[in-house]
Amino acid sequence: MSSTPKIITLFLIFHLSIVRLTLIDGAETETHLHFYFHDIPSGNNPTAVRVAEAPGTNTSSTGFGATVMMDDPLTAGPDLSSALVGRAQGLYALASRDETGHLLMAMNLVFMDKENNGSTLAVLGRNSVFDTIREMPVVGGSGKFRYARGFIHAKTVTMDMTGNAVVEYNVTVYHQGQ
Ligand SMILES: *[C@@H]1O[C@H](CO)[C@@H](O)[C@H](O)[C@H]1NC(C)=O
Ligand SMILES: *[C@@H]1O[C@H](CO)[C@@H](O)[C@H](O)[C@H]1NC(C)=O
Ligand SMILES: *[C@@H]1O[C@H](CO)[C@@H](O)[C@H](O)[C@H]1NC(C)=O
Repeated sequence: MSSTPKIITLFLIFHLSIVRLTLIDGAETETHLHFYFHDIPSGNNPTAVRVAEAPGTNTSSTGFGATVMMDDPLTAGPDLSSALVGRAQGLYALASRDETGHLLMAMNLVFMDKENNGSTLAVLGRNSVFDTIREMPVVGGSGKFRYARGFIHAKTVTMDMTGNAVVEYNVTVYHQGQ
């Protein structure tokens, strides 16, 4: 008859031991990264290409449904010729039917600089490209960034008539890898 309190006690012990394990193993590190993202959809060597669209995309005022695959360079400075620190590999898609400039971002930031070489961050979220500063969630990572979670603040620095854009990225992540 008194099995319910026992189960609750067991559950609490179990739960507390998980919390304790997390505290012991969870040597979390906070890391800040700063770099520039280059989205180059035009010219003869584009890094972002449209791979899919809906039947109504080209007649939609917002381009709803257009989906772009990117392998965009990430550099230390705003100039494309500055040191390459990684690449943004993944997809963005126009996700709003009624308002312009709302993207779904689904990408991996793949780092190639000395400090983070081979580690990745997974980004999944909304990018409202006409906002001065927008926030995107970092939902995971690998290597040094194992168990990563955090956010990005992104700001467009330049965008030309053909759609090529340079975007400043500030990344804040908590992670457990070394
Ligand atoms: C829609 O526009 C894109 C970009 O200009 C073009 O590549 C594509 O062929 C167009 N699709 C249709 C169905 O006209
Ligand atoms: C990053 O790792 C790759 C593969 O292991 C290696 O070839 C490259 O030299 C490394 N880059 C830096 C900057 O350490
Ligand atoms: C990134 O951080 C730097 C240093 O704090 C700041 O000057 C810059 O405005 C920030 N940019 C964005 C897009 O958050």
